Amino acid sequence: MSYVALYRRYRPKNFSEIIGQKAIIQTLSNALLTNRVSHAYLFCGQRGTGKTTIARLFAKSINCENRQKNEFEPCNKCESCIEINEGRSLDLIEIDAASNRGIDEIRNLKEGIRFAPVKSKYKVFIIDEVHMLTKEAFNALLKTLEEPPAHAIFILATTEPEKLPSTIISRTQRFDFKKLTINEIIERLTFLAKAEKIKITPDALKEIALSAEGSLRDAESLLDQIISLGYKEINLEILEDVLGHLNFEKTSQFINYLLNKDVKNALIFIDQIYQDGIDLINFSATLLKLLRQILLLKVNPQIAEIIKEEFTDDQFEKIKQFAQNFTINELEKIIDSLMRIKERIKYSPIATLPLEMIVINFCQNENKNSKGE
Ligand SMILES: Nc1ncnc2c1ncn2[C@@H]1O[C@H](COP(=O)(O)OP(=O)(O)OP(=O)(O)O)[C@@H](O)[C@H]1O
Ligand SMILES: [Mg+2]
Ligand SMILES: [Zn+2]
Repeated sequence: MSYVALYRRYRPKNFSEIIGQKAIIQTLSNALLTNRVSHAYLFCGQRGTGKTTIARLFAKSINCENRQKNEFEPCNKCESCIEINEGRSLDLIEIDAASNRGIDEIRNLKEGIRFAPVKSKYKVFIIDEVHMLTKEAFNALLKTLEEPPAHAIFILATTEPEKLPSTIISRTQRFDFKKLTINEIIERLTFLAKAEKIKITPDALKEIALSAEGSLRDAESLLDQIISLGYKEINLEILEDVLGHLNFEKTSQFINYLLNKDVKNALIFIDQIYQDGIDLINFSATLLKLLRQILLLKVNPQIAEIIKEEFTDDQFEKIKQFAQNFTINELEKIIDSLMRIKERIKYSPIATLPLEMIVINFCQNENKNSKGE
């Protein structure tokens, strides 16, 4: 059996399993109880806080065949609920706007919207990362939101509501998802650890919760990585080892691609860590720190004694090799561009783009130089 990530296996199936976001659940459950469902919702907020999860739960509840008048939870037993849980309902359509940005996709969507639901009361459209749509696509979407058919419900989700046209926002009922608090994250991790029969000390739990910066998905994914390394008992020491190890493995692999001017794999790598939910600003900061140590070692080998203490022998060996194989000029160049990357990532329409540009610039210039141009 292939390994299924924690956050998939334990995806909440009921509103009662949702951590935090109390005000949002309250309003949505009221709408379900009073049967006053709006046609367009906007879910805003940081990644990993429950937007997609709650959107699916809401879709499940409104279409649940067994749901009684005084109940807002889905039954998870009827055909509609089961189809949604298994991700094969024809009446729940999820669109990732990041990869379907254009007018054609929205046109297809508009066509699709006209058709009645296949078997349920409502057809629910979840449009994820909706801020990524093009202007034309927004206009098309706006027309749809102005006159939605009675059977259609839209749930737009975004991490960057400030990039949405106000005309779209004003047509929706908006919910702002909150970052989860440390205690909320600890509550969930404790539950998961118990379910997985893992022992974990309170200080390690707190450290995982802190490093997740309000995203439950990040917290779960970190716990998952530690568990998948085979640990059954986790304390702060193990956690810090694992964190440091994961960081070093990733950054040194990336530095290796740079050293070899391997543009292709460096770009695949960036895409992969982004898909894995690694924060690119954090990654760049770790990268910068390591490159600085390599540069310091290069210009002053006597510093070795100091740097050595921060790493295992294997890691330090790698750092020494990097220091030998990069030129000072090369190191300066990457460090220089990395110093300004935080702001650039923040304001880039595509999060991975600034790092990709660094890779391409660095590797191309070097190829030119080596050809003597
Ligand atoms: N409030 C929450 N309560 C319980 N679990 C949560 C909550 N938020 C996130 N999770 C967990 O994290 C996983 C990912 O959450 P979800 O996909 O809903 O995040 P999102 O807000 O849609 O993030 P993104 O903006 O990256 O799409 C869920 O499967 C669930 O395990
Ligand atoms: Mg989502
Ligand atoms: Zn049901």
